[in-house]
Amino acid sequence: AQIDRASSGNAGAGGREEIVRAAELSIVLPTFNEAENVPILVGLLKDTLKGIDWEVIVVDDNSPDGTSDVSRRIAAIDPRVRVIRRIGRRGLSGACIEGILSSSAQYVAVMDADLQHDESLLPKMLAELKGGEADLVVASRKVAGGTIGEGLSSVRAWGSNIANSLAQKLLKVSLSDPMSGFFMIRREKAEAVAPKLSAQGFKILLDIVSSSDGALRIKELPFTFRERQHGESKLDTLVTLDYFGLLLAKYFGDAISVRFLMFGLVGASGLVVHLVALRMLMVLEGFEFNLAQTVASFVAMTSNFFLNNQLTYRDRRLHGIRMIVGLLTFYAVCSVGVLANVGVANLIYVNDAYWWFIAGTAGAVMGAVWNYAASSALTWRK
Ligand code: GDD
Ligand code: MN
Repeated sequence: AQIDRASSGNAGAGGREEIVRAAELSIVLPTFNEAENVPILVGLLKDTLKGIDWEVIVVDDNSPDGTSDVSRRIAAIDPRVRVIRRIGRRGLSGACIEGILSSSAQYVAVMDADLQHDESLLPKMLAELKGGEADLVVASRKVAGGTIGEGLSSVRAWGSNIANSLAQKLLKVSLSDPMSGFFMIRREKAEAVAPKLSAQGFKILLDIVSSSDGALRIKELPFTFRERQHGESKLDTLVTLDYFGLLLAKYFGDAISVRFLMFGLVGASGLVVHLVALRMLMVLEGFEFNLAQTVASFVAMTSNFFLNNQLTYRDRRLHGIRMIVGLLTFYAVCSVGVLANVGVANLIYVNDAYWWFIAGTAGAVMGAVWNYAASSALTWRK
């Protein structure tokens, strides 16, 4: 499994052989504000991985605490450490995918950089893969012998259990700990599913397993989730929402994307905002209906814009002047969306007034699809 690139022969007069061994194991460390933890972890890895040709790939989302700089300083004295600094993007899963795809090693591990994952498990994980019986080795907190230790608060432990059982029921994955962020996989297997993976949120492992449609031979090894050393967790409400989005999207067989689902949820919230604004403008401000309806539409579109900017397109989030321009294009897109909505609804309704319900729904769906397609191409274009 090792490749020896020996530059012998053409090494010149002395004929001294310089042997460079390519890494057989890449360890991807996604980081956001882990400047204090990365040096400690790399030190631990050096000790644990003696006898293995390894490399570390730090994928940092431009952390304000200077994690990239700290990592580069390590890289400057140890070429086994590489750093990918991403700008304008956020997301644990996306960072892991990028790290995996930047590897040329036969095996790739993903682990948290905050010292919660027990690095001494890595050699055992590698041995399992090399044994040839497994394609993916998952470090599990739920298999006999593993525990969540000090790693999770009781609220988090409870939430984590719900997330687990939902994943098992909805996606029928046979993983005891589908939310684990600690695993090792044959790179070619990860590469094969990479185009199907979602870059948002924390659920990279679940995504890999459910996207592989049962094609992976999985082995689970127990470990104890340690307490975070420095800094704080980035798992927040948005990450949780995103997780449910993934479950639904996968459950419906990938027919609808997580992004579209989120866009739809935001749209539904916009309807509530619209109705509340309409009512308030008429009752409290004494606006006549048409004016109130127009103003309420703008209130709802504005609220939708900011929610989408925050949630649906958090990875392409607009700031400053680009946000103002984005808001204006969003108004334009939605106005055309209303036309599409009314147009389609009318087409059905005119032909058969009895089908008002179908006409209304078809119009709304048409409007939503248009708004989604057009705003992702114009407002939040890549
Ligand atoms: N590049 C990048 N971008 N890295 C990130 C981001 C991000 O947006 N968000 C978090 N990370 C990094 C952190 O710096 C850390 O190294 C690792 O991802 C895990 O993040 P934590 O914020 O420490 O997550 P946690 O400890 O709350 O969650 C852990 O347990 C969950 C299940 O209970 C992680 O192992 C999760 O993967 C796991 O799902
Ligand atoms: Mn953590």
